[in-house]
Amino acid sequence: MKNQLETIFKKISEAVRQVSELKQLEDIRVKALGRKGELTRVLQGLKDLPPAVRREVGQIANVMKGQLLRHIETRVEELKRASWTADPKLRPDPTLPGRPPELGREHILNRTIRDIEDIFRSLGFAVAEGPEVETDYYNFGAMNFPVDHPSRDMHDTLFISGDVLLRTHTSPVQVRYMEQQSPPLRAIMPGKTYRCDDDATHSPMFHQVEGLMVDRDVSFADLKAVLTLFIRRVFGTGAQLRFRPSFFPFTEPSAEIDMACVKCRGKGCNLCKGTGWVEILGAGMVHPQVLRAGRIDPETYTGFAFGMGVERMAMLKYGIDHLRYFFENDLRFLRQF
Ligand code: PHE
Repeated sequence: MKNQLETIFKKISEAVRQVSELKQLEDIRVKALGRKGELTRVLQGLKDLPPAVRREVGQIANVMKGQLLRHIETRVEELKRASWTADPKLRPDPTLPGRPPELGREHILNRTIRDIEDIFRSLGFAVAEGPEVETDYYNFGAMNFPVDHPSRDMHDTLFISGDVLLRTHTSPVQVRYMEQQSPPLRAIMPGKTYRCDDDATHSPMFHQVEGLMVDRDVSFADLKAVLTLFIRRVFGTGAQLRFRPSFFPFTEPSAEIDMACVKCRGKGCNLCKGTGWVEILGAGMVHPQVLRAGRIDPETYTGFAFGMGVERMAMLKYGIDHLRYFFENDLRFLRQF
């Protein structure tokens, strides 16, 4: 069998040397080493040999196989180079510039959240997160919603089962944060929120950034100062704000904050529905009941809270006129930022 191998090896080596075309080389490789090749067939006979001989012959055969493959590779290179000399057009051009890998981009909503975080971090706010799957207690009860409040209805809230639901706002993170920290505290809490809502200006999933500051003597003036500073950082020093009395169960007093319309600068247009103002934030002084739920004594401490819609911020800042652009993932849209 050794002799048989020797003969095959010599024959194939010689054939490889003689070959003058790449295609023939491939034929030789298949005929010799392919599944039905000569060498392969001999190797299949190995199993009939006594174990001791089998081992020795097997090793020789493997070495030969490796050598043959290397012979073939070398010959492939030689033939290729010969063809380049014959026809320089076939030669690969190493000066061709490579194709740069395409870079991905941060989604504009993530970018907006990051920008918001950066501004608040520079004001000493921490960034915290809470669960998207919440209990009725944190989403409503701890936030001082009365038991019969309409937003607890199935028409507004996506329930999972019993007392478990998808949070309808980021406000429940306020109480979770207060439970873990003691004042003075300053934090924002970005994240996804869910409501039973789907039209041109509402999506069943959207993003909010909650803000909370609790300390001795925190006042509504502090709230105004922080929000004004924030909005001017986002929209420029010319941004005008208006605080409008409003109501939330978890703040008292409460306000909604409008910004002079970025599109018409207060004259009135379709964006601001002719009013000259667009609503951008809900805010207020944290209700004593909410502080208590967070195990903070409302006799000693006061605080303010606010909540903003991230999609809305991005729409106003970048002049995006439809919510669906954020979620369609059309690259032509995503690449603009
Ligand atoms: N949670 C309110 C909303 O979703 C916003 C808000 C947050 C208002 C904090 C006041 C204080 O509309």
